[in-house]
Amino acid sequence: MQLSPLQSRLAASVIASCLLFIIYLLLFSPQFALAAELDHTPINHGSGLWSYTTSEDDDGDAIDTLELRRPAYEPNFALFDRSIIGRASGAAKLNNDEPVRSNILPGDTVTYVFEQASVSSRSTQDPSGSLELRNLNESDDDEPVADGERVRRATSTTTLYISANTCDQPGRISPDQTTMDPPQLTLYVSTTSDNTSPGPGQSDDVQKFLVFDEGAVMFNTTLDRDVYLSISAPEVSSQYFSSGSQYNFQVAVSTDEYYHAYDSVTDSNLIWVDSDASSTLLRTRNLTSTPQEAMETTPYVMFAQDRNSVAVNGIRNSYCGLSSWAQIRLLADGSGPISMGMKRSSSDKLMRQEFYVSGLNASSQYTGILALAPTNSTSARKRAVGSTAGKAVVFKETAFDTKPNGACTFVFNLTFCDEMQYAVPGNPALFPNGTALAAFYDNYTITMYNNFQKSLDQVPCQAPPTQQYSLVKNCDDCKTAYKNWLCSVAIPRCEDFSSPDRDYLQMRNINAPFPNGSFVSQEIRDRYGNQTAFANSRNSIIDTDIQPGPYKELLPCDDVCYEIVRSCPASLGFSCPLPDSNFGFNTSYGLRKDDGSLSCNYPGSAHFSSSASIISACSVVAIGIISTLMAIVL
Ligand SMILES: *[C@@H]1O[C@H](CO)[C@@H](O)[C@H](O)[C@H]1NC(C)=O
Ligand SMILES: *[C@@H]1O[C@H](CO)[C@@H](O)[C@H](O)[C@H]1NC(C)=O
Ligand SMILES: *[C@@H]1O[C@H](CO)[C@@H](O)[C@H](O)[C@H]1NC(C)=O
Ligand SMILES: *[C@@H]1O[C@H](CO)[C@@H](O)[C@H](O)[C@H]1NC(C)=O
Ligand SMILES: *[C@@H]1O[C@H](CO)[C@@H](O)[C@H](O)[C@H]1NC(C)=O
Ligand SMILES: *[C@@H]1O[C@H](CO)[C@@H](O)[C@H](O)[C@H]1NC(C)=O
Ligand SMILES: *[C@@H]1O[C@H](CO)[C@@H](O)[C@H](O)[C@H]1NC(C)=O
Ligand SMILES: *[C@@H]1O[C@H](CO)[C@@H](O)[C@H](O)[C@H]1NC(C)=O
Ligand SMILES: *[C@@H]1O[C@H](CO)[C@@H](O)[C@H](O)[C@H]1NC(C)=O
Ligand SMILES: *[C@@H]1O[C@H](CO)[C@@H](O)[C@H](O)[C@H]1NC(C)=O
Ligand SMILES: *[C@@H]1O[C@H](CO)[C@@H](O)[C@H](O)[C@H]1NC(C)=O
Repeated sequence: MQLSPLQSRLAASVIASCLLFIIYLLLFSPQFALAAELDHTPINHGSGLWSYTTSEDDDGDAIDTLELRRPAYEPNFALFDRSIIGRASGAAKLNNDEPVRSNILPGDTVTYVFEQASVSSRSTQDPSGSLELRNLNESDDDEPVADGERVRRATSTTTLYISANTCDQPGRISPDQTTMDPPQLTLYVSTTSDNTSPGPGQSDDVQKFLVFDEGAVMFNTTLDRDVYLSISAPEVSSQYFSSGSQYNFQVAVSTDEYYHAYDSVTDSNLIWVDSDASSTLLRTRNLTSTPQEAMETTPYVMFAQDRNSVAVNGIRNSYCGLSSWAQIRLLADGSGPISMGMKRSSSDKLMRQEFYVSGLNASSQYTGILALAPTNSTSARKRAVGSTAGKAVVFKETAFDTKPNGACTFVFNLTFCDEMQYAVPGNPALFPNGTALAAFYDNYTITMYNNFQKSLDQVPCQAPPTQQYSLVKNCDDCKTAYKNWLCSVAIPRCEDFSSPDRDYLQMRNINAPFPNGSFVSQEIRDRYGNQTAFANSRNSIIDTDIQPGPYKELLPCDDVCYEIVRSCPASLGFSCPLPDSNFGFNTSYGLRKDDGSLSCNYPGSAHFSSSASIISACSVVAIGIISTLMAIVL
């Protein structure tokens, strides 16, 4: 049939009107359903998402699906809905992986609810979830039921990780009030709808409670229904703490892992390398396991605290607390007395993170606390599940000390002896900073090494194996062994002269005056003053050019010496004294201790905790006294 232009225009507008009407219906009918649903909300509150599905199973598919999803995400932006829920339970709602921070007055309790439904809907909507994959086989016809099944399956095995940090606690009435630390907050958890406001007043049958441990708490529970939790602040005595001050905390729930974690049992990954009077270096153990691996970003942060200060008492396990109260910390803008960096060790080629802390007080005792900062974004944390990245973690403390003001100056970042990072004999008047002193030692060791290399050039290193000096060692082994030995003996590891006498600490330069003009006691000078090992540094250029005054040297390990005897051609004439010989072993070398404590110096040495393993000294026999080839005075 042919239509006139007028007719076709009419037809077009009729069709358009019909379409508009259909679109109107499609767009607005779900709103009617939502309105009906809101009436249910207060009644049904707490019974979770899938109860909607079961109670309204008889309805049509399309509307059913919409209804199923609405309540799950509506509260996120519909304020009125949140307030209805709030009134129903008296609890603020927590979302998965979203930390919440709040003030709380002493004696008060703040209650939260984590609705099982909020996480169920997430996994239903997440198409990449493993849940979805498991259900791919199920028919599409009974989708709502499948959703319900899915939800039920997801939640019955889910664990909810609840964690909290104390960020602030009541202040002391005066800095002198050190007898009492602020009391800890308490976490109460209820998984029964009989107790929707857990807290101090309730029976232990309907709730569990956990007192914070140094400002942190971790609690897990099976997520098979809504979980109610409260943070409760104790009353504080106005005799000890300023009145009107309050606590501040951060609480988070997660279905993946604790958002805030701490470990005050396992030995920390933080190792104290060495200090001088005002600065210190700490480092982690290896963070990579193969030489090929690189690591540009610094994974850890560090806090430090004078051991006699009470500033962080009560919040030592709290990342939130430490990041605002630790005496030594990096500020939000990245400034502060701690500089961090990644360093690849030249011996094993593995990466480690280092922390250089300056501005410390002399002769003081500190603790260093290693921590992982929380990742801000939820998605970054999701990707990091299973590893430690993404959450806030506080590790066990590592103790370190500073030396008295004296000769010992910390040097690091040397170019040749790059593994020697410790305090060396220095002189603030002649070498005002570690950089200048490091340059001096660098120049000296490089000069000595070049001399050695000239001697080694006389040896047929490039010859075929049968003509070489050894079948098991080559010239590269000899160079490495020489470098390790040279760095250990030419750059003495310095301890202040006032440090207690030990077998492995050798007094040096005792006839020289201290920088303030005084001398070592007459008794000591009478007794040892004639012995070269006491009157001089091992390397006399230290006495003449640096003039550090009297100091003590942590002697190099004997195995560092044996290794060159083993590795280098006999024609070079290296030899080492033996422990039972009378020829200066005691004033030249130290022995490694079985407990791994620092009893002698070697490349990469540090104050390892006693549980760390050690390399045993080799038992190669060497004879005579040390060779004078390298002009190092015994
Ligand atoms: C789907 O499920 C049926 C029975 O539950 C099973 O026999 C079939 O192998 C499944 N199909 C796939 C692709 O897993
Ligand atoms: C959960 O808590 C129990 C004690 O309540 C604890 O033994 C368990 O290690 C915790 N699980 C995790 C993953 O932290
Ligand atoms: C480096 O660390 C990894 C684990 O972090 C460890 O398995 C490996 O043995 C370490 N390598 C060395 C040389 O210590
Ligand atoms: C150093 O000591 C002073 C005075 O005792 C103190 O105020 C300051 O906080 C201390 N600094 C450090 C880093 O320990
Ligand atoms: C981290 O979170 C805080 C508060 O939640 C926000 O102010 C800040 O912009 C976030 N930073 C980044 C890098 O996302
Ligand atoms: C160490 O030296 C390198 C260059 O040689 C420099 O980039 C780096 O900043 C130094 N590290 C510190 C902590 O001074
Ligand atoms: C260290 O001392 C040298 C002079 O000896 C000076 O040129 C240099 O700027 C100083 N460096 C620092 C970081 O103070
Ligand atoms: C480097 O050391 C050599 C030998 O010890 C010395 O002659 C030279 O002056 C030193 N150079 C510097 C810049 O210290
Ligand atoms: C001089 O310095 C030494 C070592 O630092 C110290 O033991 C001695 O008490 C000081 N003497 C005076 C008079 O200050
Ligand atoms: C040290 O040397 C002086 C003279 O140089 C001498 O009188 C004294 O007896 C010597 N002391 C010892 C213990 O050898
Ligand atoms: C070296 O020290 C050891 C242990 O301290 C001691 O038994 C031995 O007699 C000393 N030897 C010499 C020659 O002083």
